[in-house]
Amino acid sequence: MRYTPRQLYRRLYYYSKPYLFRVLLAMAASFLVSGADVATAKLVKPFVDDVLIATKGGLLNLVPVIVVGLAVCKGAGRYIQEYFIKTAGQLVVQDIRNDLYGHSMKLSMGYFSRSSTGNVMSRILNDVGALERSAADVVVEGLREGFTLVGLTVVAFHSDWRLASIAFVVMPIAVVPASIIGRRIKDNTRRGQGILGNLTRVLQESLAGIKVIKAFGTEERECQRFKTENKRFYFFTRKVLKYDSAATPVVEILASFGIGAVLWYGIHRVSEGAITQGDLSAFLAAMLMMYTPMKRLTKVSNTIQRSLGAAERVFELMDEPPDIVDAPDAIQATRPAGHIAFSRVGFSYGDEPVLHNFDISIRAGEVVALVGPSGSGKSTIIGLLNRFYDPQQGSIFIDGQDLRDLTQESLKQWIALVDQETFLFNDTVRNNIRYGRPEASDAEVEEAARQAFADEFVRIMPEGYDTVIGDRGVRLSGGQRQRICIARAILRDAPILLLDEATSALDTESEAMVQKALANLMQNRTTIVVAHRLSTVMHADKIVVLEDGRIREIGCHQELLSGDGLYRRLYDMQFANRD
Ligand SMILES: Nc1ncnc2c1ncn2[C@@H]1O[C@H](COP(=O)(O)OP(=O)(O)OP(=O)(O)O)[C@@H](O)[C@H]1O
Ligand SMILES: [Mg+2]
Repeated sequence: MRYTPRQLYRRLYYYSKPYLFRVLLAMAASFLVSGADVATAKLVKPFVDDVLIATKGGLLNLVPVIVVGLAVCKGAGRYIQEYFIKTAGQLVVQDIRNDLYGHSMKLSMGYFSRSSTGNVMSRILNDVGALERSAADVVVEGLREGFTLVGLTVVAFHSDWRLASIAFVVMPIAVVPASIIGRRIKDNTRRGQGILGNLTRVLQESLAGIKVIKAFGTEERECQRFKTENKRFYFFTRKVLKYDSAATPVVEILASFGIGAVLWYGIHRVSEGAITQGDLSAFLAAMLMMYTPMKRLTKVSNTIQRSLGAAERVFELMDEPPDIVDAPDAIQATRPAGHIAFSRVGFSYGDEPVLHNFDISIRAGEVVALVGPSGSGKSTIIGLLNRFYDPQQGSIFIDGQDLRDLTQESLKQWIALVDQETFLFNDTVRNNIRYGRPEASDAEVEEAARQAFADEFVRIMPEGYDTVIGDRGVRLSGGQRQRICIARAILRDAPILLLDEATSALDTESEAMVQKALANLMQNRTTIVVAHRLSTVMHADKIVVLEDGRIREIGCHQELLSGDGLYRRLYDMQFANRD
């Protein structure tokens, strides 16, 4: 996906619109700054002709007053301009970041499994940051220098139009190479931000997986990987720097040809008597003062190019369509009884089909167990019910309503999930349990923890329920984490309960206890439980045996055991050691 600069500007403008007042104020102030510069150039003529040459004493005393007055004007203007434009830039960045974050939260699980977390992080942090710097630069520098340039041009032509005409024929020679450099930079920057994204990704990944790295002793290899990315980033930056650093000298050298010619002609004009020394001085002052704005303007155009590259990456993410959106006429699901039906569901993540013609019906309040070898599609079924993905064939119904006809928000409200991968936020135990029902009282939180057999170990933690767990806090064992997650699901109090390997990290004894708690919880709820340990699923109303995304057998424990199918084999394997 590629955008034209026009489209990018339009969208950036849309974001600046709420802060137009600040921008306009800054623009007005930049008039003051350039006005002071232009006035300085203009005053050179009376200074030379009247004060220096004609020595009119009265005017002499005015000189310091004028110098200080101009400096004050310029300083005040500059302050107002910088302050308002920079705050406007920050505000715009804040809005873009919020939108980008909001949008990325809406993207489907499919998007996150396709692209790396680091990539998304890099766009929200690095690219948006690059936009801020350039947005401020463009308006501050561009406008101020633009005004100054126009003012000084008028002074130059006013001093001697012939001399000025010659100068302005020579000047553009310097602009052409600069613009070519600018274009080169734009092409490179997109890739550069990508490389910076790689760096963020490597960093994010290795920090998240630090345990694996330590366990396998691969620190050195990871360092090499990081160094390689880092080096690529350097090579790339070097290229940008090469063009960046070339811009000024190239412009200066080319300009010197013009300056030589103009000086020669100017002095010639004075000795001819066509203009006064004051005119030539004012002209030269104007030309000299033009140098800084010119230089800055060529830089500004480079910055613009760079920011367009960043803007493109930002809007690319913002325009990434969420594949799972509410239908326009989606309805709010009211609390369902909990009847679930999969009707001829076919699903694949990519090309390989994962579920084939999956068809089951679960009555409200039933407990259904999914068993089967690893990779047979159990978690996928749980994910489909959560609408992490939509099936490619068939439909899924809750109380007769197709999931796609419900708003996602209302659907999620009626489902509690204990996932295979336990995740806890960097927050207190209490807030982690309360996550699915923020309005729950402390007593309710503690009751849920008791039911999940978590209360006991939470109480003896340094600050009990207010202990921070996760990255910055107390580390929990795998089984403890699972029990916190179960408490979270219990507190959610939803009619549909999905347990994906929810007791896998518990020892036999705590599993038996948690099992009891879950048994309470399962009452009056439709429950789908995934477990490898068959002792956990024995009491289910219905056991669905999966293999390669197909239903092999369905029945209760006794029925399946009396047959001679996959379940029987799995059972024999698990209980072989007992006999
Ligand atoms: N995000 C994904 N993208 C692509 N393929 C996936 C994704 N998640 C799972 N798969 C594939 O889908 C198949 C079913 O995976 P699933 O996670 O449903 O298995 P499972 O039965 O839960 O296994 P386990 O018992 O190991 O948890 C596997 O072959 C897996 O490789
Ligand atoms: Mg799984």
